[in-house]
Amino acid sequence: ATIGIIVVAAGRGERAGASDEGPKQYRRIGGHPVIAHTLEKFLAWKRSGPIIAVIHQDDHELFENMRLCLREGNRVITVNGGATRQQSVLAGLRALSQHGASHVMIHDAVRPFFDEELLNRVATCLEQGNAGVLPAMPVTDTLKRSSADGHVAETVDRAGLFAAQTPQAFALPVILHAHERAAADGRSDFTDDASIAEWAGIPVQLVEGSPDNVKLTVKRDIAMADAKLSSPTA
Ligand code: C5P
Repeated sequence: ATIGIIVVAAGRGERAGASDEGPKQYRRIGGHPVIAHTLEKFLAWKRSGPIIAVIHQDDHELFENMRLCLREGNRVITVNGGATRQQSVLAGLRALSQHGASHVMIHDAVRPFFDEELLNRVATCLEQGNAGVLPAMPVTDTLKRSSADGHVAETVDRAGLFAAQTPQAFALPVILHAHERAAADGRSDFTDDASIAEWAGIPVQLVEGSPDNVKLTVKRDIAMADAKLSSPTA
């Protein structure tokens, strides 16, 4: 199996606020852009096939500057993303299908804290013949549904509930076909690829995620990530 990698990084990061370093995936944590940490891990993983970074059309200069600090950065292929994450993933899948991969891992650039054990866990599950693999963590907080006026309407049973992470992995032709169908159906708002698989009837196997594998979404997440990497005990 050749596992191609797609790192989606074409978002505008509006929830993280404006910065002169650009969108959140280009903010520096521990001295390097978030996306550099992410790509470096895939470049170092022995099982990575072709690596595609899906970037915004306005970010090519930012990306090329960032590429210079990567070891073997010239291995990363760039393609332009779309207006939603789903459209960006589809652009990546179409590009990857030209590069001879049988499987794909699709990952958010803004999750730099995954480790090789997680990648190996996901890859092993793929090799066992699963068409779709989703790393996820059991929900530990008690969950509430709110009413329109902000009161607690009900407590939701958390048994069997998981928070979805990335990288999510699939047989490439299967997920590409599902994405093409979703796009042809006018859908563009799926927030992850396991949801598209679910919509298309592709079984998705859960594997244990990693508690460190958080998504950097708001400004505070970036500051906390920087503090974590910059502290002498990290
Ligand atoms: O917005 P959200 O936090 O869900 O973004 C998850 C990932 O998807 C980020 O790495 C972001 O850059 C990427 N994305 C994208 N194209 C978009 C929107 C988000 O590649 N249009």
